[in-house]
Amino acid sequence: MCGISAIASHKQVASKLLNTLLNLEYRGYDSCGMSIYDGVQIQHKKNIGNVNEVNHKVDFLSMKGSTGIAHTRWATHGGVTMENSHPHPSNDNNFAIVHNGIFSNYQDLKEELIQKGYLFKSTTDTEVFSNLLQDEYRKSQNIEDAFCESLKKIEGSYAIAMITNYNPGVIYAVKKDSPLVIGVNDGTNYISSDINAFISETKDTILLGDFEYVIMTKDSYEVKKLSNRNKILKEVIKVKWDRETARRGGFSHYMLKEIFDQPQTIRNALQIQTDQLEEIARKFINKEQSFCVGVGTTYYIAMIGTYLFSKFANMYVPAISSDEYPNLIPVKKDHHVLFLSQSGETYDTRMAIRAAKNCGASTSAIVNVVGSSISQTVDHCIYQQSGPEICVVSTKAALSQIIILWQVALRVGVLRNKLTQKEADAFHDHLHEFAEIIEKVLNEESGFIRGLAMETSNINNWLFMGKGIYYPIALESALKMKEVTYLHAEGLPSGFLKHGTLAMVDENLYSLFFLPSREKTHLFESTLMAIEEVKTRKGKVVSFCLEDDTKTKELLDYYFVIPKIHSELTPLIELVMAQLFSYYSALHLGLNIDKPRNLAKSVTVG
Ligand code: G6P
Repeated sequence: MCGISAIASHKQVASKLLNTLLNLEYRGYDSCGMSIYDGVQIQHKKNIGNVNEVNHKVDFLSMKGSTGIAHTRWATHGGVTMENSHPHPSNDNNFAIVHNGIFSNYQDLKEELIQKGYLFKSTTDTEVFSNLLQDEYRKSQNIEDAFCESLKKIEGSYAIAMITNYNPGVIYAVKKDSPLVIGVNDGTNYISSDINAFISETKDTILLGDFEYVIMTKDSYEVKKLSNRNKILKEVIKVKWDRETARRGGFSHYMLKEIFDQPQTIRNALQIQTDQLEEIARKFINKEQSFCVGVGTTYYIAMIGTYLFSKFANMYVPAISSDEYPNLIPVKKDHHVLFLSQSGETYDTRMAIRAAKNCGASTSAIVNVVGSSISQTVDHCIYQQSGPEICVVSTKAALSQIIILWQVALRVGVLRNKLTQKEADAFHDHLHEFAEIIEKVLNEESGFIRGLAMETSNINNWLFMGKGIYYPIALESALKMKEVTYLHAEGLPSGFLKHGTLAMVDENLYSLFFLPSREKTHLFESTLMAIEEVKTRKGKVVSFCLEDDTKTKELLDYYFVIPKIHSELTPLIELVMAQLFSYYSALHLGLNIDKPRNLAKSVTVG
């Protein structure tokens, strides 16, 4: 996730571009830059740091010109360096672009361009597109042709804005799976990753669709279809949001926005290069024993990993909570430890890495924040590409980590001959379908989940229970509930209930059961048995079931309807629905959802 801005104006644009960058900074802040056509050619200024730091170093306001593009970066491909920051010029500096998204086939394209003599200054996927533009323009001597032909070669997700020396005063922009909006005003027009960038200047907005591109000047804009270049008439929408609402993309809280970001972050996680996954998978194969380590939410994700490795690779990979790591001496030289951390800065996890390294163990990590301490300390790091997560409690970053662990487990399964490549590919396809299904569930079920949350938000004590992989799902969901509502929610294995906790059950105790789909006969029936144990003692039960499962519905006091999907994906659907349930419960209680009391996003002290 990065922030894009482009402005064509009758006035100087540097200060307007700077303001838009500041408004977009929440989308990424490791480096930023600007390119402006100065009347002769495109000039560039960029560096690493947040917008104010970079402005201090390079003085954006000294740039002259009335058409420009700008970018604030959240690194995905390539480290946090000045060379990797945007905009990226073509070799001949006749084109400059800013990009948000991932060009998944960039390595092949880069290879072809290198063969043709193009030089690359950065290690980004983006620079490929600048040089493709130069190459296509060489053939057609037509900018629109060069733009459209270059796009035909690109795979992946993108929002791009481009300026060129050949057509000063004009901005070309396009989108596919990454956001891009147009803002129109008298004499100054805007393109940006979101409305927040320009909302203080104009509320007249046009939403660009996938595979649509716009050719924009200071007083005109033309939207066209990429497939046939036909013009499309677009409605101008008057946005009613204030600036802070716009920053959250119209959502009332970052937590809700980040829950709704998940279809996209799943897709990003599914685009992670296979060689990255392979490198970690090989460590699981080559080392005598592997462990998965994290703390808070990431510990529960590590536990989910234990079940995934068991299921797909027939391998036992114990999960350890980072804070308990020093009290155990689990690793040896022959071992491999996979660390999980959204922030990449958590003290407990950093200390666990230090301990593992001291024992000579091989280390790897799945981390969201590029360039963070953890990413730099381990032997191999996969960046999960979820974009900045602003809400203290983790939702989208956690789900992405599951998707990545899932892919690693599939790869390990194939390498250990526990799965055929065909079976692994089929599961991979299901994960893609999952992104679609989650989108539908979020849109269609939110209202119902909100209603139920309102009805139950006066309940002070909850048991969250599940069996098998649903057990860590229950733990993570209970943690989410505690974090945002401050209510007591205890996560436990449903099979454990009768061994003690059952003593608590009476008509005032509410239980949320994470019920597997019926295809998982053993898991389903034993969870149902635990539900019966609670019901017999007059406890109230909330659970999940299919629309047509009347038998289960009759047993429950309340239920969430889940869609018919592959049985392995049911736990993930339930996890997302439980995120929404916690969110709406906290909303009804009027709490500070994005910054719960006593908590911090990144706990960097012991
Ligand atoms: C803090 C946060 C938790 C988070 C944990 C681990 O305690 O409040 O929400 O799960 O840190 O964070 P990490 O960045 O390492 O994933």
